[in-house]
Amino acid sequence: MAAKTYKLGVIGLGEGRSILSAALQSDRWELINVCDLNQDVCRARQEEFGLTRCTQRYDDLLEDPEIEVIAIYTPDQLHGQHIKQALEAGKHVIVTKPLLHSLEEAGSLLEAAKAAGKCVFVGQSSRFFESMIHQRRDYLAGRHGDVDTVETYYISDARWFLQRDWARQKGFSWMHNFMSHAVDLAKWYLPGIEEVFGYGYSSTANQAYGLAAPDDLRFLLRDGEGRVAQVSGSYTKPTLRQIDSGIGCTLRGSKGTSRALYSKLLYHTHFAGEQPITHSFEDKHGYYFRFEGESHHAGEYQNYIEYFAECMDRGETPKPDLNEGIHTLAVMAAMERSMETGQPVRVSDILREYSLQL
Ligand SMILES: NC(=O)c1ccc[n+]([C@@H]2O[C@H](COP(=O)([O-])OP(=O)(O)OC[C@H]3O[C@@H](n4cnc5c(N)ncnc54)[C@H](O)[C@@H]3O)[C@@H](O)[C@H]2O)c1
Repeated sequence: MAAKTYKLGVIGLGEGRSILSAALQSDRWELINVCDLNQDVCRARQEEFGLTRCTQRYDDLLEDPEIEVIAIYTPDQLHGQHIKQALEAGKHVIVTKPLLHSLEEAGSLLEAAKAAGKCVFVGQSSRFFESMIHQRRDYLAGRHGDVDTVETYYISDARWFLQRDWARQKGFSWMHNFMSHAVDLAKWYLPGIEEVFGYGYSSTANQAYGLAAPDDLRFLLRDGEGRVAQVSGSYTKPTLRQIDSGIGCTLRGSKGTSRALYSKLLYHTHFAGEQPITHSFEDKHGYYFRFEGESHHAGEYQNYIEYFAECMDRGETPKPDLNEGIHTLAVMAAMERSMETGQPVRVSDILREYSLQL
């Protein structure tokens, strides 16, 4: 019997371009309709992908009974509203990171998801990059032994991102938009983070854009067993592109250490009884980066929509789901509180403040 095909609608066609490419190349997905407020963006995507339909009205996706899953790639500040509308229309949701830009809407989303009986999957794209997939496989196979400490970073000269109006408006923060990748990877390996401590600094370059939310961020995250993750980010200055630009995730365990990198297709390992090895997946560059430069990374989206379909086939909720995503937001809220107060902050205190039971 042929596998079921899932019917998709997509809103927000900037980064949403990646999931269009992924859906059109998948035999598990059918792209039904797409939406963007900006008519020029609609036209450009129609031309690029040969699409017959593109609407400027989100309601056209919500009211279409054929669409089962809505994928959301609108500005961070609009995710909460767009997820809620999709759930109320009876659709499953794929939402790009960050799930939300604050915890304000988290409670109402949990209620909406429960009432709808639909799932919300957070498209944490870095988990689905080739190097990170190999690292996860080695971790699950126990090749690191006991992983005691994790180091993640997202270092990028991301001033280009501020060309977007919404990135200079209330609700945008480097922590949510960029560093959420590094926080998510740390939490993937240490899910039970209980307490955080860190500092942030808003550089003069950052302030020149009118941004108050810090762009230089350094944190320690501790789980219930005392294991520690170190998470860092810098966003408005030149980077050492040959060494630490992009995303990195290092696992240090009793039997081995590894580091997975993005956007370099490299994975470094040193496991007991082996020589240190650098694994290169450069032959997959064209799969991950399908458009000009490395501006979008459609291969990760391909991997996550195939994973989403497989989970749905098995009646499982794809991860990270709404609960996990909200816990990560609570960790980030604790990180923000720690920057403000100069004190360690417990994640449970944040969850209690927002009356969130996960
Ligand atoms: N690694 C990743 O997963 C990744 C990478 C880049 C961006 N993103 C996320 O994707 C989202 C969009 O970022 P972007 O870089 O594409 O921004 P963008 O500004 O280029 O694109 C957003 C698009 O949404 C459209 N839009 C805005 N409001 C709308 C509405 N109410 N209805 C329909 N369309 C609307 C805009 O016209 C625009 O085309 C952000 O949340 C960002 O964090 C994720």
